[in-house]
Amino acid sequence: MLNAVIKESAARRRQGELGQFLTPLPVADFMASLFGALPNSVRLLDAGAGAGALTAAFVSRVCEKNDGVSTLDVTLYEVDPLIQDALLERMQHCQHLCEDAGIQFSFIINEADFIHEMSVRLCNNLFGPPPVFDVAIVNPPYRKIGNDSMERLSLRHIGVETSNIYAGFIALIQRLLAPGGQLVGITPRSFCNGPYFRSFREDFLANLEVNRLHVFESRGAAFRDDGVLQENIIFHAIKGRKQPHELVVSSSSGEHGDVVAERRILFAEIVHKNDSEKFIHIPSTSCHAAAKKIMDGLHTTLATLGVTVSTGRIVDFRLKSALRLKPENGTVPLLYPCHFNGGTVHWPKLAGRKPNAILDNEETRPWLVKSGIYLLTKRFTSKEERRRLVACLFDPKDVVAEWLGFENHLNYFHASGHGLDRNLAVGLFAFLNSTVVDQYFRSFSGHTQVNATDLRKLAYPDRKTLQAMGSELKRLDQPQDELDKLVEKYLHAHQ
Ligand SMILES: C[S@@+](CC[C@H](N)C(=O)[O-])C[C@H]1O[C@@H](n2cnc3c(N)ncnc32)[C@H](O)[C@@H]1O
Repeated sequence: MLNAVIKESAARRRQGELGQFLTPLPVADFMASLFGALPNSVRLLDAGAGAGALTAAFVSRVCEKNDGVSTLDVTLYEVDPLIQDALLERMQHCQHLCEDAGIQFSFIINEADFIHEMSVRLCNNLFGPPPVFDVAIVNPPYRKIGNDSMERLSLRHIGVETSNIYAGFIALIQRLLAPGGQLVGITPRSFCNGPYFRSFREDFLANLEVNRLHVFESRGAAFRDDGVLQENIIFHAIKGRKQPHELVVSSSSGEHGDVVAERRILFAEIVHKNDSEKFIHIPSTSCHAAAKKIMDGLHTTLATLGVTVSTGRIVDFRLKSALRLKPENGTVPLLYPCHFNGGTVHWPKLAGRKPNAILDNEETRPWLVKSGIYLLTKRFTSKEERRRLVACLFDPKDVVAEWLGFENHLNYFHASGHGLDRNLAVGLFAFLNSTVVDQYFRSFSGHTQVNATDLRKLAYPDRKTLQAMGSELKRLDQPQDELDKLVEKYLHAHQ
C-alpha cells in the first residue's frame, strides 16, 4: 500500500516537473495510422519519448503494412533517467519486429533536453548542422515556461516565443523536418485560440500544411493544463506545403472503442482568411457546424456597437489591505463570479469566502468603475457548468452604489468605461448565454477559460436586433430552451 502511495506521488511529481503523461495504446495506434505514404528510408524523430509508446505504434504499423519501407532510423529524446530502461526495452522490441519484417532498424536514445540541444544546433553550426527527419510523432510535455526560464531563452534564440513548452517542441520539430516531412502530434488544444499562442499559430500555419485534425470530446479524455480544463487535439501536418482546400476533421469521445466521426471541412472555415489572430476553428460536430453557419451570418463587431469588453480590474491579492468581507463605511461593492445568480447579481454573499467590498480611497479609485448597467461574464467556468460562456446582468437597481469593483476573474462589457443601454445589455445577455454561441465558442476553444480576446473576436447581431431581443426578454432566469428560441428567432430572421 505504502509503495503504491510513494509511486503515485512520484508519478504526480513527474507530471508536474516533466509534463509526463504517457499516451494510451489505442491513441498511439490511432496517431500512427494517420501518416501518409512514407519514403523507403525513414528518419523518425520522437521528442519527449517517455517509454516509447509512439515510436512502438509507428513501428508496428510500418511492419504490418510492409509497403516499401526498407530502413528505419529512429532518434529519441527523453530527459527522465527513470524511464530510460523502459524506453530501451521498447526499442529493442521494435528492433525484433523490424528484423522479422525485413526492415533495417537503428535507434539512438538521447538522454538530453530536446529544447536546449536543438535550439543550439538550429542557431549555430558549432555542433554540426541540425539533423533532418522525414517523420516525427510526438506527445510533447506540457507545462508553463517562465519568461526568463532556460527553455524560453533557448527558444527565443531561434525566434520562437511561447509560454508553454509543448508549443516549443512543435516549433522545433517543424524546423527539423525535411520538405514534405510529416508530423503527427497530440497536444492541448489551447494553441488554437489562446492570445499567448498567436505567434506560434502564425509560425505553425505558415510552415505546415494541416492535413487532418482530431478532437476528443469527453471529459474523461480531457486533462488539466495550467489548472484549466483542456481538451486534446491530434493533428497530421506536412512540412512546407500550402494549406489544403479542405481537410478531414474527426472527433471521438476518447473512451475505449469509441466511434470516430469524420467531416470534410473547407480550410477557409477553419482559419478565416482575414483573421489577424489566426484562430483555428474545429467544427467537429454537426452542432458546431450549424452554430458556425448561423454565426457566419453576423457581421457586427463589438466596436461597431460602441461596446468594449475588459477584464475586471481588481486583482485582489494586489489590493489585499483594501478588501473587506462585509460592506462597511467607506467601501463599495466588489463583485466576483460567485455573485452571479441565475442571470442577475446577488450581492453581498456573506456566507461565502470571498470579500464583498473594497475600500474606496485614493489607492483603489483608479481600479473602480462608475455604477451603471454592465454585462458580466465568467472568465473560468467549472467543467460541471453546461455552458462555457456564462453571462450575468449587473443592474444598479439590485445593488445600490456609486462606484463598483469588478474582480479579475470576470470580464465586463461597457461603453467607454460607462454602463450600457439596458435593452442592448439584455440583448447581449441573451445572445451570449445562447446555445448557438456556446456551440460556436466550443468550435474554436478547447478549454473552460473565456478570454476577453475571444469575446472581442465574436461577431454580434446589430444594435437594433440586440435591443429588440433585449426588450422581448422579460425575465433573465428563463430556462435554456426558452432563451434559445428567442435568440434563434432573431438570428434566423437575420440570415
Ligand atoms: C507527455 S509525455 C509523453 C511521453 C511519450 N511520448 C508518450 O506519448 O507516452 C512527455 C515526455 O517528455 C519528457 N520531457 C520533458 N521535458 C523534456 C525535455 N526538455 N527534453 C526531452 N524530454 C522531455 C518527459 O519526461 C515525458 O516523458
